[in-house]
Amino acid sequence: MLTIQILDKVSVLPYLLMLAPGLRHPLLGGEDDAAQIVLGATFWGQPAGVAIAYRGADSARLLDIYVLPSYRQAGIGRALLAAVEEACRLAGKSRVQALYCPNEQTPAFEALLVKEGWAAPLVRSRVYWTSCSAGYDGWAQRYRFRAPYEPVLWAEISEAERQVIARRGEGGWYPPHLDPLTRPTGDWDPKTSLGLRYKGEVVGWLLTLREAPDQIRVEIMFVDPPLQRLGRGILLICEMIRRYCNDGEYAGGCNEHCYWRVDAANEGMIRWSQRSFPGRFTDEYEEWYTEKILDP
Ligand SMILES: CC(C)(COP(=O)(O)OP(=O)(O)OC[C@H]1O[C@@H](n2cnc3c(N)ncnc32)[C@H](O)[C@@H]1OP(=O)(O)O)[C@@H](O)C(=O)NCCC(=O)NCCS
Repeated sequence: MLTIQILDKVSVLPYLLMLAPGLRHPLLGGEDDAAQIVLGATFWGQPAGVAIAYRGADSARLLDIYVLPSYRQAGIGRALLAAVEEACRLAGKSRVQALYCPNEQTPAFEALLVKEGWAAPLVRSRVYWTSCSAGYDGWAQRYRFRAPYEPVLWAEISEAERQVIARRGEGGWYPPHLDPLTRPTGDWDPKTSLGLRYKGEVVGWLLTLREAPDQIRVEIMFVDPPLQRLGRGILLICEMIRRYCNDGEYAGGCNEHCYWRVDAANEGMIRWSQRSFPGRFTDEYEEWYTEKILDP
């Protein structure tokens, strides 16, 4: 007999190893996270599969769904998925989304989703990873800005300079998604977020978010259009990597990682990433996306 139940921090334990490693830790210790939906499937009392979703502001994300190999192709995945969708619908979400990196298991996962009415999967973005061990000793050391360029920490950009950036932004200097002022300065990683001055004026920025002590994400990179295509972007990345790898507080044996994500439609930025860093990525992959609109 198949049973689907909501799991809490205690009842999830027999299912923990079925989940992707990165999802296990947040389920241990502390309070239950109300935004998290964790469902377990038992077959005649034995744990057989698990699914986890996260409720965002108006949509939900399916983070993982897994059925033990000996229980597969018996309808358990379908039942878990239906239960996740129902839980999201009852929580008032109008859509449920999935973002994933393909592997050898993906054909079964995608077939399940499409059969249950999800949209045809599309490549959403490309993700590029590098690390201090891949960059610091060699290439990132060599590329450096020279005067009249002056790379500075983003936190050192003055209030007057921010006002100029905001004013020029209103005039269309940079597209809204590259606006450096949408988050408070303190949100950006203080040690690796940079501004770039040229002859005393701010002409670019590279802003990062620290996701873990040894992991940062490059969220925004912009260089003034007249200065684009002159290799300023790669110099900004190298400047960031040098600061990151030299940072005693976080230095962890040169195992710090950084990555950026490029929208699949942004062909120029994909070309730039691939041409500027040949052989320097530690990992590079596509992220796929699909979603289902839920009945009200
Ligand atoms: C994806 C997964 C959860 C499916 O679980 P399952 O219990 O075997 O799925 P079901 O028996 O409910 O199958 C439902 C539908 O999924 C599709 N499907 C399931 N396994 C499939 C396979 N090996 N090949 C192709 N389609 C498959 C079929 O359309 C199937 O419908 P059908 O039986 O009418 O043809 C399971 O294969 C799994 O755990 N895979 C590894 C984990 C994974 O990749 N998760 C996604 C991470 S985001």
